[in-house]
Amino acid sequence: MRAAAFTELIGPDGVSIIDQPTPEPERGEAVVDVRACAINHHDLWILDGDSAMVDGDNLPFVSGLDVAGEVRAVGGDVRGVEPGDRVLLCPNETCGSCRFCREGPENLCESFSLFHGGLAESAAVSADRLLQLPESVEFTTAAAVPTAYMTAYHMLRRAEVGPTDLVFVPGATGGVGVACVQLADVLGAETVGTSSSASKLSTVESLGLDHAIEGTDPEQIRPAVEEIGKPDAVMNHLGGEYTDLGLSVLRRGGRMAVCGRTAGGRSEFDVAGLFLGHKRIIGSTMGTQDDLRRLVDLVASGDLDPEIDETYPLEETAEAFRAMKNRDSVGKLVVTP
Ligand SMILES: NC(=O)c1ccc[n+]([C@@H]2O[C@H](COP(=O)([O-])OP(=O)(O)OC[C@H]3O[C@@H](n4cnc5c(N)ncnc54)[C@H](OP(=O)(O)O)[C@@H]3O)[C@@H](O)[C@H]2O)c1
Ligand SMILES: [Zn+2]
Repeated sequence: MRAAAFTELIGPDGVSIIDQPTPEPERGEAVVDVRACAINHHDLWILDGDSAMVDGDNLPFVSGLDVAGEVRAVGGDVRGVEPGDRVLLCPNETCGSCRFCREGPENLCESFSLFHGGLAESAAVSADRLLQLPESVEFTTAAAVPTAYMTAYHMLRRAEVGPTDLVFVPGATGGVGVACVQLADVLGAETVGTSSSASKLSTVESLGLDHAIEGTDPEQIRPAVEEIGKPDAVMNHLGGEYTDLGLSVLRRGGRMAVCGRTAGGRSEFDVAGLFLGHKRIIGSTMGTQDDLRRLVDLVASGDLDPEIDETYPLEETAEAFRAMKNRDSVGKLVVTP
């Protein structure tokens, strides 16, 4: 089978199409013929050589977390899925035995990791991480959901976002950003989002963003947010100087969920502003299998329509990463092996 592998960790030019043996399912596994696999910034960190998870010794490396496809074969001890089923993978990998695996939520697992291998024609996955996909949900749409929407939904939950809350989303145009905007809308909240691009913001407004702020300078964004109101919650996937910006605009007692570091892995912020304002910073990674199940139900019922900017055949996987790196896209980029 063909796979789009990272053969050098030098950015999009490091993606090559290689031939690999088609996987056979081991005990507890299902082999899925991948119809769609979304890419995430997580893959780009790896491809850029900026991830602690993968280095030169792991090459060639097949990334790709968000697998939607058809079960080709199952191994021993597999229950609940059979060949021919349409499925979506929850890419969480957990140890099954730590206190968080026993007590939940499983995304706190002490050995938490992620599945990689979806950028290929077939992938061997843990069968008990597969959700059945309703006929009405297309593979491409389904693949957009796990990492971006599950993470966004979990952040909104952890930040206790409810109806009429004002939610600030710095960087509202990417995978997690658009998911935060759309899901805040589903929850009945109001959103304010930023981007460096006016045209991308107008697309996100058509997806439900209530207030758009064009710009990248926190000193210019801060008064623009304050003119709209004091956010109850901030969904921060950028880190860097956006952490201080988010904390400074939050209302008293407001919550900031943090899941990423695109704008910087270190943030300086006003400590007194945090404690005097009774604000909370919440670290959050991925979500639970049940979060994903709810999101698939929302898609099936027509209440959520994940935004897909572009789909790419497997041979053009490098193009998909180029679009992400150049900040060309709105929402998700999906490879369709
Ligand atoms: N912890 C977790 O479980 C988890 C899960 C998913 C994602 N993440 C992290 O969350 C982040 C977003 O992931 P994603 O897949 O949604 O990425 P993405 O689609 O590439 O995000 C693009 C967004 O980021 C903005 N952006 C890109 N570079 C920027 C910069 N240097 N300064 C300011 N804004 C910038 C873009 O703004 P413009 O519109 O201005 O281009 C756009 O809104 C990544 O850091 C990722 O690793 C973490
Ligand atoms: Zn565990």
